[in-house]
Order: sequence, then C-alpha cells, then structure tokens
Amino acid sequence: MVLPDVANEMLTRRPATRPVIVPADDRGIGRAARLLADGEIAALPTETVYGLAADATNGEAVARIFAAKARPRFNPLICHVDGLEMARGFAKFSPLAERLAETFWPGPLTLVVPLAEGAAIHPLVTAGLDTVAVRMPRGVARDVISALGRPIAAPSANRSGKISPTTARAVLDSLGDAVPMILDAGPARVGVESTIIDLSGQAPVCLRPGGVAVTEIERAIGQPVARAGADAAISAPGMLRSHYAPGLPVRLNATDVRPGEALLAFGPDGIAGADNAAAIANLSPAGDLTEAAANLFAMLDQLDRSGATAIAVMPIPSEGLGEAINDRLARAAAPREAS
Ligand code: TXA
Ligand code: MG
Repeated sequence: MVLPDVANEMLTRRPATRPVIVPADDRGIGRAARLLADGEIAALPTETVYGLAADATNGEAVARIFAAKARPRFNPLICHVDGLEMARGFAKFSPLAERLAETFWPGPLTLVVPLAEGAAIHPLVTAGLDTVAVRMPRGVARDVISALGRPIAAPSANRSGKISPTTARAVLDSLGDAVPMILDAGPARVGVESTIIDLSGQAPVCLRPGGVAVTEIERAIGQPVARAGADAAISAPGMLRSHYAPGLPVRLNATDVRPGEALLAFGPDGIAGADNAAAIANLSPAGDLTEAAANLFAMLDQLDRSGATAIAVMPIPSEGLGEAINDRLARAAAPREAS
C-alpha cells in the first residue's frame, strides 16, 4: 500500500516507544496478556478484523478503549472469551445460544444474551444494558484471552466511525500512539466484522450481518432470523447509518467510472470508463465473495488514499457474505452523520 507523505511524517514524529508492533508468537502473546493484566490496552488480531482490547472486568482499562477510539460511551463493546465455560461465567446461555456457540465458535459470530446477575463485567462494557455481546475468536486473540484468564472487551481497532483495520499497519494509521502495543499476525482472514445475533428477545434477530452468512445460521437452528430494521429500537449505536466511512464519497452499483473517480471492481467483467479511472482495485477478479470480504476494508482504504475525487463501486451480489459486504458499503456511502 502506498502511504501519503503525511502518514510517513507522522511516523517519524511519533515517540519511538509507542506503539510497539510485536509479532504474534508465544512471547508476543504473553507480553500482550501481561499488558492487559496491568490495566493497559493492546491491539490484537482476530480472524475478522483487528480489535482494541482491554480486561473486560477493569473499568479503567475499558475507559482507555473509549478514549483511544473517541468512541461514544453509550456504544457497548463485545466481550471476547476463550470458550463457552468462560462465557457462562457472566452471561446466560439458552439452549438456542448454546447450539449457536457450539456450531460456530470459535468464529465470526457474536451472540447478544442476558447478562448474569453479579457478573464481573464492568458496566462500561455493556453501556449499562442488561444484555452482553459475546464472541469466541479464533487463533491469537483466543490465546491472549486464555493467558489473561479473563474475558476481553474489544471493539474494532479504528477511530470511531472509520473503516475497521485488517492489518497491524491499518491499526497504526488509525489509532497512532493512542495504543501502546499492536500484536501483528498479518492480514485478517475474514476481513469483515462478526455477524451479531440478538438472542435476548422472543426470536433471534440479526443486528449486523458479518463473517458468518445469516443463511448458514438459519440452517443451523432450523428457524428464520429477522433483520433489525434501520430504525429498530434494539439496533445499537454502532449501527449508525454512516459507520465505516472512508474519507471520499462512495457511489454504489456503478455501471461506469466517471472522470476523477477510483474504481472498486468485483468479478471478471470490465466497466465503461475504467481506462480513465484514477485508481482501480478488484475485490475478487474471480467473483468470489469470501475473497472480496477479506479485501474490502484494505482496498477501500487504498482507494481512499489514491487522490481520486470519489470511489465508484461495481454491483456485488447479496447472497452469503455478500450481505455483510453490501451492508458495509451502504454505510460507507451513506450521508455522514457520525464523525
Ligand atoms: O468482528 C468483530 O465483531 C470485531 C472484532 C474485534 O471482534 N469487533 C467489533 O466490535 O466489530 P465493534 O465494537 O466495532 O462492534 C460491536 C457492535 C457495536 O455495533 C455495538 O453497538 C454492538 O456490537 N453491541 C455490543 N454490545 C451489544 C449489546 N449488548 N446489544 C446490542 N448490540 C451490542
Ligand atoms: Mg467497529
């Protein structure tokens, strides 16, 4: 990725001590866990996107997350666990919740379930709600949780309202020295955030499409999952319409590229005006939605820095992971309401 001079300048001016980018080997994992045990924050790789982590039972540590991201405090955080047993320590799992956890964990599925009485999770994490969002990530993040021995609260490791980071470098670009340490495990495999299913009501509701296709979830539980409407009372503040905003205007379902625009392409087909595009990135030349999801945020970010006046996005089918991709693109294209 080509970085503008401004970013390079910021890098050289930043104090050498923060943030430290550490490879996600056993030593790095141990170091991250110790930092979290000391009440600090750290950016960790998960299979979806990089997260900004703190011990979920430590209010001061959790407050550091909100400060580093400039995130509104009414927007609750996901608690990450290393297994169902840890999750049962602070949340109530119905048979349906257990079934979903057993089927999709570890993986990109977050379940919103009732908070248990007397749970040690700090109220800042849940923004005072009587529900809690729980997920078990795969790989490095899970190892850090096991080493810490406590649940980890972690939103995506970007400034509030901006694109989620899928590399350590993107975390650095977004948060700079607001984070003391970034554990680096290379590009995130899934590339879009977890699917969030609210199980706290009568019937399951999808609050956010993500790394597990909703159709897969429906198949696993043998019942339909409703989608939260744009103005549903339960939709969390993180679901603000203009979330995930790049700097440039985004034009969806483009059938041509207009002068000055960059092109975010999908599939093997060409498009009128592409020859004159300011920049081009193809989410998946083969038209594969899994590959497209993995590339989405990094390519949006790349085109955002290309010097174009806007980003034209080719149509992307909505089945499977396409639902999450189109959801993020719709938010990226929405009128800006959050900073
Ligand atoms: O893949 C992911 O989910 C990533 C990685 C780091 O795990 N995390 C992530 O966190 O995307 P964040 O904070 O960017 O998005 C979490 C969403 C927010 O929209 C928040 O409002 C919602 O989950 N949420 C958290 N707790 C909730 C609750 N109790 N009820 C409803 N929504 C909740
Ligand atoms: Mg986020």
